[in-house]
Amino acid sequence: MSEVAAVILAAGKGTRFRSETAKVRHRAAGRSLIGHVLEAVRPLGLAQVLVVVGHQAEEVRAEVEAVGVPGTTTVLQLEQRGTGHAVQQAMPALEPGIDRVLVLPGDTPLLTSTTLQHLLAAGAEETSAPRDGGAPTAAGVTTGGAMLTAHLDDPTGYGRVLRTPDGQVARVIEHRDAPETVRAITEINAGMYVFDRGRLEASLADLGDDNAQGEVYLTDVLARLVDDGAPVLPVSASAGEIAGVNDRAQLADAARALRARHLEHLMVEVGVSVTDPATTYVDVDVEVGVDAHLLPGTILERGTRLAARAVVGPHSHLVACSVGEDATVHSTRAERATIGAGASVGPFTHLRPGTVLGERTKVGAFAETKNATLGEGSKVPHLAYVGDATIGERVNIACGVITVNYDGRTKSHTTIEDGAFVGCDTMLVAPVTIGEGAYTAAGSTITDDVPAGSLAIARSRQTTKEGWSDRRRG
Ligand code: UD1
Ligand code: CA
Repeated sequence: MSEVAAVILAAGKGTRFRSETAKVRHRAAGRSLIGHVLEAVRPLGLAQVLVVVGHQAEEVRAEVEAVGVPGTTTVLQLEQRGTGHAVQQAMPALEPGIDRVLVLPGDTPLLTSTTLQHLLAAGAEETSAPRDGGAPTAAGVTTGGAMLTAHLDDPTGYGRVLRTPDGQVARVIEHRDAPETVRAITEINAGMYVFDRGRLEASLADLGDDNAQGEVYLTDVLARLVDDGAPVLPVSASAGEIAGVNDRAQLADAARALRARHLEHLMVEVGVSVTDPATTYVDVDVEVGVDAHLLPGTILERGTRLAARAVVGPHSHLVACSVGEDATVHSTRAERATIGAGASVGPFTHLRPGTVLGERTKVGAFAETKNATLGEGSKVPHLAYVGDATIGERVNIACGVITVNYDGRTKSHTTIEDGAFVGCDTMLVAPVTIGEGAYTAAGSTITDDVPAGSLAIARSRQTTKEGWSDRRRG
């Protein structure tokens, strides 16, 4: 059994990105670029994963740790002197048992595990030949590994693949170093390879930097392997998987492709209805249950989870939320909120962090909630602010109710027990408790606790001056 390690290159600044944030930390469809590459590697269950960091090393390292693929560590490349130099830094950190090395860029978020498995399988066949450099394979050539290539309509910016007459990779020439004749080649280097460890180590020694960028190119290893009689086997990959993200326009393209792929998965493999994929923005880490329905203008981010038959949209933006079965969420903005099964939210509702809506609750138009729990069957149908509150079951909060939770210094809590009825335009000056089944009269400003089963009226009495208007008009 051969042990494989991955080396992921993520030390570069990403100059073409024009950003103060390292390129690989930029996000596409809810995940960092380096996160996408690590997630493609995760299912391979490799013995070791090394991420080469350099520019903003601390931040990139933190991001790598947050992704948390088992067996991952980082290696520091102090100066970014090119992709070959980056791999040179990683080699001493490889564990003794490793005999093949998968090298990947950190800026190719569309890469899939399936394609990596093909690459590894191709590399494995060919390196099964004895490693003393002697015996050739059945095909008559010993290979040093395998690499992914693709044909692009517009290969601008990529390294071009030059092949030998018998179809092996002769070498790769970078776009910037290539004469017009080479630039006309449409087969490009994806920058993804699997190498025999020993051969990689040998050919990395004393690589030069005599090129347009003055960098140590990993691609120069390929020509050396040809000289050693062990060329790298080209494996063709789809153009849609190997795209590198070098600027913000490419970031937007990649994000769009990732979302389209995830929506396709949800529709075809899970059974989710999406009325219009073009106007539905779902991050790759969002989970949606069977027979859920996403309506146009829906944005689902940061691990939002929808249970079966939930209906979201039109025009809803949910961030890190959980939505129960059969719930509906219409024209709503919600963040870190839990919406119970069968609940109805919206239209025009703002659920802020810490909102927990129980089963069959309702929060309607122009209502805002924050750090508030609503028990089963309770309702806030319209025009209300409910913050820092614990609300029991079957409570009705009528139009215009406000939990007065902030005095400019401290936040105070409101408790409303089961079956209470808070009348229209009630101000609940917290801390305050409305007891089980109690009522507050419309227009009340409640400053004292209301015992269970009672009615609180807290407003000035009406004075009616009969004939006043007629007298005024004369
Ligand atoms: C590289 C390949 C090119 C290929 C393309 C595919 C080389 C010389 N060229 O070019 O043939 O077509 O990828 O996308 O390898 N990095 C480091 N340290 C460094 C330099 C780069 O870690 O010193 C990292 C970057 O952070 C990035 C990756 O290596 O994640 C690729 O570097 P980049 O500069 O984007 O290479 P390309 O010019 O795209
Ligand atoms: Ca690149």
